[in-house]
Amino acid sequence: MTRDEAAAAWARLAAKIAEHDLRYHEQDRPTISDAAYDALRLELLALESAFPELATATSPSQKVGAAPSSRFGKIAHTKPMLSLGNAFSPDDVEEFLARILRFLGSTDPVAIRAEPKIDGLSLSLHYHEGRLIRAATRGDGREGEDVTRNALTIASIPHLLKGNDVPDLIDVRGEVYMAHGDFQALNARQLEAGAEPFANPRNAAAGSLRQLDVSITASRPLAFFAYAWGEASSLPADTQSGIITCFESWGLPVNPLSHIATNAEGLMGFYRQIEMRRSSLGYDIDGVVYKVDRLDLQDRLGMVSRAPRWAIAHKFPAEQARTRLLDIEIQVGRTGALTPVAKLSPVTVGGVVVSNATLHNADEIARKDIRLGDMVIVQRAGDVIPQVVEIVLSERPGDSIPFEFPSLCPACGSHAVRDQNEKTGKMDAVARCTGGLICPAQAMERLKHFVSRNAFDIEGLDDKRIDWLVAEGLIHQPADIFTLARRDATSTQKLSDQKGWKEKSVTNLFAAIEARRTIGLDRFLFSLGIRHVGEATARLLARAYGSIDAFIKAMNDAADRAGEAYSELLGFDQIGETVAHALLDFFAEPHNQSVIADLLAELTIEAPAPVARDSVVSGKTVVFTGTLVQMTRDEAKSRAEALGAKVSGSVSAKTDYVVAGDAAGSKLEKARALSVPVLSEDEWLALISN
Ligand code: IVH
Repeated sequence: MTRDEAAAAWARLAAKIAEHDLRYHEQDRPTISDAAYDALRLELLALESAFPELATATSPSQKVGAAPSSRFGKIAHTKPMLSLGNAFSPDDVEEFLARILRFLGSTDPVAIRAEPKIDGLSLSLHYHEGRLIRAATRGDGREGEDVTRNALTIASIPHLLKGNDVPDLIDVRGEVYMAHGDFQALNARQLEAGAEPFANPRNAAAGSLRQLDVSITASRPLAFFAYAWGEASSLPADTQSGIITCFESWGLPVNPLSHIATNAEGLMGFYRQIEMRRSSLGYDIDGVVYKVDRLDLQDRLGMVSRAPRWAIAHKFPAEQARTRLLDIEIQVGRTGALTPVAKLSPVTVGGVVVSNATLHNADEIARKDIRLGDMVIVQRAGDVIPQVVEIVLSERPGDSIPFEFPSLCPACGSHAVRDQNEKTGKMDAVARCTGGLICPAQAMERLKHFVSRNAFDIEGLDDKRIDWLVAEGLIHQPADIFTLARRDATSTQKLSDQKGWKEKSVTNLFAAIEARRTIGLDRFLFSLGIRHVGEATARLLARAYGSIDAFIKAMNDAADRAGEAYSELLGFDQIGETVAHALLDFFAEPHNQSVIADLLAELTIEAPAPVARDSVVSGKTVVFTGTLVQMTRDEAKSRAEALGAKVSGSVSAKTDYVVAGDAAGSKLEKARALSVPVLSEDEWLALISN
């Protein structure tokens, strides 16, 4: 390659990288994968090492992140926010340690602290006399965006540090992130509101923090881990570990996982252990950071260009893979939502064989111009469903055509429509089948939901059995389940004579169905599969109305939106217009009324237990995690709720108690990180028996 050719190639690459930097840092909407971006940077670095004159001060290789966005005020970092060098193999780790010893001119072992590398965005919190007065993003490392008002809305970031060893002035640095559960719930809400879903928790965290309208940030479930610091008037300890312990005692959330080792073997052991636990941590990490623990040694080691010599990031191999898109299947959900699913040529991603991946919705397919036969990159992050993140255009078959999203439901042929969102006026991203109960896919999904664990929980009536019973015409709607045994008794074609059934399995199934003829009102309401009525809302409605008769009457009366019943419904805490309209739509449908009437002819619905208002736990928020021995999770939940407690699925600074059973994982860790009181099962039982 001539110098001129290299310069031209360099300019093309630099422009590309700058464009992707802008998309990633400024717009929080990257259009290529991290792996593809890293490849561009490596190419640039290779050019610069062959032609060093290309590595000018303005080269993207010399830059950390992107210059702060002009939308926000700017804050200069008194000490720059650095980036970290990367290690990808055990050899790189050995080399990192050897370099440190060489530099220090020492053969004595040096203690290295290993901690997870959180995949979020870094934030610097400026505390003066213990009070949070400024918060800034990293920006270009020298100057970041002023996100003070946004940071103040993050529940786990303390406004005031507690303790008598808090320095007069300190910049606490760490990572803002979004937990997996919160990310999925947020994306579900985004879709519901007709907004684009976020590609991953990191983008969701960045997009949520960097909002000019602070109330949007406040409504997003962000969290924070402190792991470093910038300027400080004094330091309360002389090791990295010591400072993190102080952070924790001041009320800052710190990650509970860390390990000290003096050799590569020890560090690799921790790395492998963390890699194994990666998918169950509940938040994204993209590697492990190794840091020299002693601060005096950190000072001596100093930094090279954009990164400290005393630390390195050991990255996990990307959980991405390339494969062919064989087909796009449109699935119809219980509420009629048409969901495109990518059928892939099976490929191993992060140790798991993947042959299906989500394509989100029609807009996503159009935006990415995904076509049948495309070579695609699939990504699996933690427990999140695998997704198609991008296509490899250079490997697109020559005869491919744009994918046309069906306008008819593939299951019943009814029109699929996109609703207009009442609040935003925008079109919903999700197309829905208008077939309602005549759509066999919706009916099937409703039946499956009806018998599922948190609804009627009918043992032995799994998806396969439902498929079969529906295909044989034995079940059309929920009430048919409860007449099955009666009909079978007088039928000439006994169930026990059918293929796949045995005398015993039939007896067991009929017994399991009988056992559910009496059911709590909350479960009953949840089992109906009304849009937006999840378990929590069902419990709320059950308690609010007390009996099925009162509930049905109220729903019918509420059809008059000017009347009292409607305003009563909206008056309940946590019932908004979305839920109210979903309920009214459901009851306005004669089919649904008859489904309920048929069920009521077969069932006894129990009123919810009255809620105690003066118990020790009333009004408290409790999270159960791990395996409980003396009661099932559901039992624990309903007892706590009967005592007036609110049971939540995720830990936040607002949690009052975490009850941890055996093998509790990330929720327990988070509780510790947030200093939320943790009780054993016995302690909890003792507390509520008082
Ligand atoms: S230490 C001077 N520790 O990774 C070193 N960084 O790729 C300061 N990160 O900019 C960073 N988890 O945003 C450190 N436990 C951890 C981290 C961590 C995530 C991020 C941070 C940093 C980036 C470097």
